[in-house]
Amino acid sequence: MATTRTFLVLFSLACSLSLCICDDESNYGGGEGNLFPGFYRSSCPKAEEIVRSVVAQAVAKEARMAASLMRLHFHDCFVQGCDGSLLLDSSGSIITEKGSNPNSNSARGFDVVDQIKAALENECPGTVSCADLLTLAARDSSVLTGGPSWMVPLGRRDSRSASLSGSNNNIPAPNNTFNTILSRFTNQGLDLTDLVALSGSHTIGFSRCTSFRQRLYNQSGNGSPDITLEQSYATNLRQRCPPSGGDQNLSELDINSAGKFDNSYFKNLIENMGLLNSDQVLFSSKEESSELVKKYAEDQEEFFEQFAESMIKMGNLSPLTGSSGEIRKNCRKINS
Ligand code: HEM
Ligand SMILES: *[C@@H]1O[C@H](CO)[C@@H](O)[C@H](O)[C@H]1NC(C)=O
Ligand SMILES: *[C@@H]1O[C@H](CO)[C@@H](O)[C@H](O)[C@H]1NC(C)=O
Ligand SMILES: *[C@@H]1O[C@H](CO)[C@@H](O)[C@H](O)[C@H]1NC(C)=O
Repeated sequence: MATTRTFLVLFSLACSLSLCICDDESNYGGGEGNLFPGFYRSSCPKAEEIVRSVVAQAVAKEARMAASLMRLHFHDCFVQGCDGSLLLDSSGSIITEKGSNPNSNSARGFDVVDQIKAALENECPGTVSCADLLTLAARDSSVLTGGPSWMVPLGRRDSRSASLSGSNNNIPAPNNTFNTILSRFTNQGLDLTDLVALSGSHTIGFSRCTSFRQRLYNQSGNGSPDITLEQSYATNLRQRCPPSGGDQNLSELDINSAGKFDNSYFKNLIENMGLLNSDQVLFSSKEESSELVKKYAEDQEEFFEQFAESMIKMGNLSPLTGSSGEIRKNCRKINS
């Protein structure tokens, strides 16, 4: 924790003094693969600026897009690592991850990814990977909605494969138990602190009725709702999410401020007003977890710092580097 932060501070200092030694990968603290923030410094110096500007335009057009892009990065990283596998359409032997349970009728923002990629290809063809683009877009989405910023280690390359089963099996479902959710994180090398902090991204964006209906009507298969759900909130949700129909009807993941990246998600959990079962169990299942929820509810700075650190950690999951993989020209298909 302290090392990452110290590194970031030293890094910014070195850059501001024009002593930027960031192209030397040995400066990135070790153990993080070969990723480092200055990766495109000479090959595509405007890369970050281009990503930020296309994301900003897309979010100005539709505020929810920040949430949708952030989620794409998560769904990419949990399947074969952060390698852009999620972005591939079906073709030849590739079966798209877009059709998995977590993604089908749900993952969105692929058109914005195409726009970012087109802008990058225009500036520096064949240079910036789709996996890096998604990592940068996730950081920019945080900043644009009022959340923390951080330096993004770069240099990921794109996969030449996708994994539908990985998408179905690795990404947690909203009705998974606390233990299942935690083990899906620890399987990736992420811990309880990462789980709680990263779930805080549900401070922005929306969920479809299908993702939380079970809680409203039939939590345990005996025809009763989840009694821990705050009563008036539950009543409100039932109006938008009937026992059948309205599957795609949306509700805010954070009832207080779905467009603002803040710590109200954690305050909601303490009030039993988490939207998804997977949100509420972070407060109701284990002492260690509920302590983290309380800490982030009380101290937004603490949440922001941990969120940035955990996003960097998630972004570093099993990247393809060196001569592995490729730099896709089009994020939807492998190069021929
Ligand atoms: C801890 C386990 C998690 C579960 C079970 C989970 C589940 C879900 C579900 C069911 C939705 C609503 C999808 C829909 O109904 O269409 C959602 C939305 C979202 N998730 Fe998660 N999620 C988890 C963790 C994360 C993480 C780690 C991130 C990012 C770091 C994230 C970011 C988001 C965002 C931003 C949205 C809103 C997307 C939009 O409005 O388009 N989630 N999540
Ligand atoms: C979780 O939801 C899925 C999809 O709606 C359903 O098939 C499954 O039975 C649910 N699991 C539990 C434990 O309720
Ligand atoms: C609740 O779920 C159980 C198990 O999935 C199912 O058998 C039952 O019919 C459901 N009850 C209602 C009222 O929907
Ligand atoms: C979907 O939500 C709207 C309110 O946002 C509500 O008027 C409508 O009835 C809902 N649809 C269904 C099928 O419940």
